[in-house]
This record gives sequence, structure tokens and C-alpha cells, in this order.
Amino acid sequence: MATKKERWIKHYRSSQKILLVGEGNFSFSSCLARAFGSATNMVATSFDDKETLLRRYWINCASYLEDLKERGCLVLHEVNVHDMNQHPTLKSIKFDVIIFNFPHAGHVSWLKESDKLLIERHRHLVRAFFESASELLKEDGEVHITHRDDDPYRQWKLEELCETAGFCLKEKVEFNKKDYPGYINKRGGNINGNVTFPLNDCSFTFKFCLQKSGSSLTSNDDDGYHMISEAIVNEVNGILAELGVESLD
Ligand SMILES: C[S@@+](CC[C@H](N)C(=O)[O-])C[C@H]1O[C@@H](n2cnc3c(N)ncnc32)[C@H](O)[C@@H]1O
Repeated sequence: MATKKERWIKHYRSSQKILLVGEGNFSFSSCLARAFGSATNMVATSFDDKETLLRRYWINCASYLEDLKERGCLVLHEVNVHDMNQHPTLKSIKFDVIIFNFPHAGHVSWLKESDKLLIERHRHLVRAFFESASELLKEDGEVHITHRDDDPYRQWKLEELCETAGFCLKEKVEFNKKDYPGYINKRGGNINGNVTFPLNDCSFTFKFCLQKSGSSLTSNDDDGYHMISEAIVNEVNGILAELGVESLD
């Protein structure tokens, strides 16, 4: 029996089980699906319900969705990264790659992107994404976040956020929209959501992988770990001495 020929586009292959979250008009998912021919390996999701999507992204969104379904992609709406690990369909699938392009927690008319409060909202979203993605990923799978790496976006500190969920940065690759024919990135949200925002030649795909269990400390960190534990023991011993209690070894 002839095996199906693998097809690929940039970082993605037709043999991978791929989950896309926070899609805007579904043009990115649609681009991957066209490159693969068949999209039975893909699950493409939006935070918005279908009615909101079709109203917000009235140009082409319906045809992207139709094309995805025709190619066998599973399309789901109202998927929230905060609890996608509990989603009745998603929770039983393990993915090779989980993609979130240009995550953004939404615009607030009285806040600027550089305002701490808005930055914290974005960080909260990305942290939640890492946490639930960690439960949907194969052991050697990857989480890909495409993000602008200029100010104020770099203040989100993706590398710091990934660590609490047990990920580490594997690679950071320049993102060029022209590598994904037909992709039109969207601002999303309730305020001018259908507008395309500039990527300013400073966007990157950050690839994260799960830290191997027991390897969250690197060999260099090992010394640091011993120094920290020694400092803790010293501090505890100081307190015990004040209380007149025998010190720890
Ligand atoms: C800047 S837009 C990017 C849209 C799309 N990924 C693209 O590249 O065109 C940010 C996206 O994050 C999504 N989003 C915001 N909060 C979310 C959440 N809690 N769960 C999933 N997606 C969310 C929005 O619906 C929106 O589609």
C-alpha cells in the first residue's frame, strides 16, 4: 500500500497533529491546510463564536472555514486557552505542535499597549495558554507563539512565562508573512478587530518545548541550586539559634 507523501510549509508538516488557537479570520489555518492538501491532521479554533467571527471578519472568513472543513480540518469555536485542556474534544488528543499567533488579551479604549495593566492582562493570557497547552502536548511536542519582539511587546517576557508551566525556549525564528501565502494577521477583539496590524520586521516564532522531568535545572544552574539551598539552611539555622533549638545539618 502506498504511503501518503509528507507535505510541509515552513515549520509545519502534514504528519504532525497540529492545534491552532486564537485564530482570527482563519487565514493562517487555511494556508497550512492548502499546503498540506488534506487537513485531517489539524484542529483550528477561535475564541469567538462563529456568529461574531463572520460579523467581524466578514471578508473571506466564511470561505476559509468552508475550505478547512472540506479538507477535513476539525474547526471549533469558543475555545478559551484558559481551559482548553478541559475541552470535551481537545482533552483526549495529544498534539505535536500547538500554535498561537499574536496572542492578545483584547483592547481597552482607555489603556495603551505600554500600560502595565494591559501588559499584565496579556501575560495572564499567555501564562494560561502555556499551562493548558502543557496538558495537550505530546512529550516531545512544541508550543509556537508568534509575537512582536519590540517594545512594548517584549515586556510580556515570554521566556519567563513559559517556565512556570514547565517549558523552555528551544528556538526563536524570524517570522515572515510571505512564508504563509494568504495569511492576513488580524488585530482581533471588539475595537477595529478586522484591521491588519503591522509586524514591523521584528516578529518571531518562539518555539517552546517541555523541560524534561527532573531537568528543570541545567548543569550550570546546579551550582546556583546548591547556593540557594545553603542560604536557606543558613537562614533557618539563624532562626533556630535564636530560638535555642539545635541547627539543621
Ligand atoms: C491579535 S489577535 C490575533 C489573531 C490571529 N491569531 C492572527 O494572527 O491573525 C489575538 C487573538 O487572540 C484571541 N484570544 C484572546 N483571548 C483569548 C483566549 N482567552 N483564548 C483564546 N484566544 C484568545 C482573540 O480572539 C484574537 O483572535
